Amino acid sequence: MASLFLRQPFKAAYLLGFFTVLVFIRLPYWLVYYSWRSNRPRKSWTLHRTINVQILRKVTRLPFQLGITDKRDLSLEVPQKKLESLNARFVWIPELEKRDLVGMVAEYAARAAVKSIAIPAYWILKEGTKWSPAYEKAQEDEKVILYFHGGGFLTGTAYPSHPTASLSKGLLKYSTSLSRVLSVDYRLSSGPPFGSENPFPSAVIDAVAAYRYLVCEAGFLPQNITVAGDSAGGNLALASVRYIVESRLPHLPPPGGLIASSPWTDMSYSHLETNSSHFLNSGSDIFDLPPNTHPLAVGENAINAYIGEMDRGETKYNRYLSPASKFVILPDVDGDNKLFSGFPRSYIIGGGAEHLFDDIVVLAEKMKDDGVDTTTDFPPDAVHDYPIFDWHEPERTESFIKCAAWLDERWATVAIAEQARG
Ligand SMILES: *[C@@H]1O[C@H](CO)[C@@H](O)[C@H](O)[C@H]1NC(C)=O
Ligand SMILES: *[C@@H]1O[C@H](CO)[C@@H](O)[C@H](O)[C@H]1NC(C)=O
Repeated sequence: MASLFLRQPFKAAYLLGFFTVLVFIRLPYWLVYYSWRSNRPRKSWTLHRTINVQILRKVTRLPFQLGITDKRDLSLEVPQKKLESLNARFVWIPELEKRDLVGMVAEYAARAAVKSIAIPAYWILKEGTKWSPAYEKAQEDEKVILYFHGGGFLTGTAYPSHPTASLSKGLLKYSTSLSRVLSVDYRLSSGPPFGSENPFPSAVIDAVAAYRYLVCEAGFLPQNITVAGDSAGGNLALASVRYIVESRLPHLPPPGGLIASSPWTDMSYSHLETNSSHFLNSGSDIFDLPPNTHPLAVGENAINAYIGEMDRGETKYNRYLSPASKFVILPDVDGDNKLFSGFPRSYIIGGGAEHLFDDIVVLAEKMKDDGVDTTTDFPPDAVHDYPIFDWHEPERTESFIKCAAWLDERWATVAIAEQARG
């Protein structure tokens, strides 16, 4: 049934009906119903925020339940003319060499018949900075962010006008040490009933290829690179840093930092007690489900697509998929079997109103327990991935300022005071 919507003219007809109902029926109803504060999912929310969340709850069904996505064709180069007004630059990331693909990830790649390929990426420049040929290489001591967008590994793009570019742009705006971000169009997965493509570890391989590009070709110092991502991109940031830390390739030392914003950290949902955020926040997050559906069903298509032919049980144990799972199997590196040994200083963002919140808290606690210098930012009434939504103020700008201060290794209070002074 669902796969019918993927074919024209059914897809166009469905979308037309979907948006007509949204605008002419749902929206007027919400405007009336939510004008009473007591009807809003969080009492602190404005009507504006409440309506935006309700709209997203319908829109996020398109990729996750109906397979309708906004993926781009990753074999096409984007002409520079189209990127000029976005102050961005297209770049090809070359494929990894065989010697760069080792250990557990190489084994999974062989099993899933996944190979490294060249993939597109975009340099997003700070406002006021112009691209120059000198930027083919790192400037002296230059700091940079390597960014992975969200979208459940099913949808989204690194294209600089996409909503997920907001976090990069926010950090560029408020950081004093950063002048550009490399945002990577890693391969997205698809799974039944929408055809199978690019399972794990395709995205991890692409992420590592981009890191190798920054270090070995553009000449950035690993300590000057911060690997970052939102949602599924946060999962990918954690997995690619894990690969770099665990594989100990002499030419690829670990990065200097990690930022994960609303990361997806447990594909087995092992913390699914009825008192958990998965249940308690199901009405206050950007994902909606038909009545009486288990909260787990939100990620169902995304998980099946990402794991491909792997056994579903793997999501419980595999540290590349589910680092926050209760049942994760620890690495054994020189007898030191801490989950986050060797990880760089890390910054974890999560919204207290999102259904993944408890998993994100578990992740941050595990990282701290393992001795990682971990900073957290958990605004209590924020939804999943709130820094990418321009209507999610003031939390969004406050988070940009605090995270940029962390990136610059300054105190957030100093940064906020500077901001207030203009
Ligand atoms: C880049 O890394 C080097 C070596 O760790 C460090 O001395 C320098 O301050 C870093 N650059 C920035 C802008 O932080
Ligand atoms: C949920 O309840 C269990 C025991 O019933 C408890 O161990 C756990 O900490 C609770 N979780 C939260 C998020 O309150």
